[in-house]
Amino acid sequence: MTHPTPQRIAAEVAKRRTFAIISHPDAGKTTLTEKLLLAGGAIQLAGEVKARKSLRHARSDWMRVEQERGISVTSSVMRFEYADRTVNLLDTPGHEDFSEDTYRTLTAVDSVMMVIDVAKGVEERTDKLMQVCRMRNTPVLTFINKLDREGKEPLDLLEEIEQRLGIRCAPLLWPVGTGQRFQGAYGLHSGILHRWLRTPDGRKQEDVKIALDDPRLAGLVGADEARLLRDEAELVTGAADPFDVEAYLAGRQTPVFWGSAVQNFGVRELLSAFVEFAPPPGPRQAVERSVTPTEPAFSGFVFKIQANMDKAHRDRIAFVRICSGRYQHGMKVRHHRLGRDMAINNATVFLAQARESVDEAWPGDIVGIYNHGTVKIGDTFSEKEPLKFTGIPHFAPDLFRRFILLNPMKGKALTKGLSQLAEEGAVQLFVPQAGGGYILGAVGQLQFDVILSRLKDEYGVEGQFEAVSYSTARWVEAADSKAMEAFKTKARNNLAEDGEGKLTYLADSIWSLRRVEEANPEIRFLTTQELA
Ligand code: G4P
Repeated sequence: MTHPTPQRIAAEVAKRRTFAIISHPDAGKTTLTEKLLLAGGAIQLAGEVKARKSLRHARSDWMRVEQERGISVTSSVMRFEYADRTVNLLDTPGHEDFSEDTYRTLTAVDSVMMVIDVAKGVEERTDKLMQVCRMRNTPVLTFINKLDREGKEPLDLLEEIEQRLGIRCAPLLWPVGTGQRFQGAYGLHSGILHRWLRTPDGRKQEDVKIALDDPRLAGLVGADEARLLRDEAELVTGAADPFDVEAYLAGRQTPVFWGSAVQNFGVRELLSAFVEFAPPPGPRQAVERSVTPTEPAFSGFVFKIQANMDKAHRDRIAFVRICSGRYQHGMKVRHHRLGRDMAINNATVFLAQARESVDEAWPGDIVGIYNHGTVKIGDTFSEKEPLKFTGIPHFAPDLFRRFILLNPMKGKALTKGLSQLAEEGAVQLFVPQAGGGYILGAVGQLQFDVILSRLKDEYGVEGQFEAVSYSTARWVEAADSKAMEAFKTKARNNLAEDGEGKLTYLADSIWSLRRVEEANPEIRFLTTQELA
């Protein structure tokens, strides 16, 4: 194996920006993705990403979703070049295909962009996704979207973000009017007024460098807007933190941009700041040691598995995030969980439009490896050194169902099917200590439909779901084994083993969970669980 020179690898790492967009459904993630891909020249026409989304959307039942699975795979990772950077945008499934994959994708990125609808503010899904970002101190850029519509007061919105998401805001742009009065945005640091002009051919963005106290400002945006802009700019520069790259990189502060994705306004400012400030791949923690991306030897981990894309071949594709070194076509890597070498002849890199076979890939890139079920989420590949990357956990599910087997003769096939689907990350499996059959846990509703359909198709098992009263789960641990034994007896009716045999407490509500946590201070209740 020839290794790249240190200069080459350092240059490739420095160029990479790997990120995801997080938002609540309908805030504008797809529209923004499309505008970013257009800016990066990865697609030529507006409407391409959107068309794929509506195709996915229109499918109400899983069978048809599955027929379109190729679509969700090609859009899983979108790569484009911008300002000498190679940008990898990882799709975070939203809407009804929201699942644990959405969370896990966030463990494979180096930063995120958060899109917020100016009228709706912080919504539930954004809050959940931000919890994952906070766990990892992921740097977050914020884009407040739909400025062409009436929305909340900008200052109130910033306060809402700070309060609800626990991150300080540093506005780099400030809106000039919203809705009917929307005129553009002012760069608080750059001193550039980005005007949103009406022209006979539609609207266009025009940039003018002008100081806030310049009397000509009123001529450009109107006397009232100029006054308001000056007042608000003075207020925010007094009240908000100044932009601090270190605080952003540490996940404590989010630079805030304002714009309209659908109108393509403010997107370039966002993208320029992204390529300038967002971090390149950094070190990754493995059980054994921290791995630096510029190390010459290849390493990476699996964060997502997509199964049976081609039913005839029953193949699975494992998405590997490269952490160090160089991937080369045909290279042999060590699959540590199985203790086997694997030749990777068929890795795929994902571009905006299609899957393509690649000859080489670098830290921050995602390659897809075809396999027949030997690879699991959380698996590490490296050249030789035994490594096991951490931080690709299971996340506590919020939705639970009991599986009712229709043909009792199929018990064995059911156990096999559920454990394989759980390994793949399609669902979480719990075996209650009190008996009563399998409980399945998910973070998105569609996961259950997928399971029913796949159990029938792939394992010949028919069943149905029954509602159960659980609404959250925590993995439980205790340093003191006596305390654990006492807890096991006390809480028997709510305890279950997960697919990897780890003890889990299933709670009816977050309030009942709080009570149990308070009553059992010697037990640790964990919202995530490292994969075995
Ligand atoms: P998502 O991926 O986050 O779910 O959101 P998506 O981009 O699909 O946007 C949701 C809706 O919001 C779409 O309207 C989209 O056109 C609209 N939208 C996105 N950005 C802006 C913006 O800056 N201003 C305004 N006014 N609307 C915006 P739709 O009616 O659901 O779909 P379509 O008919 O436009 O395709």
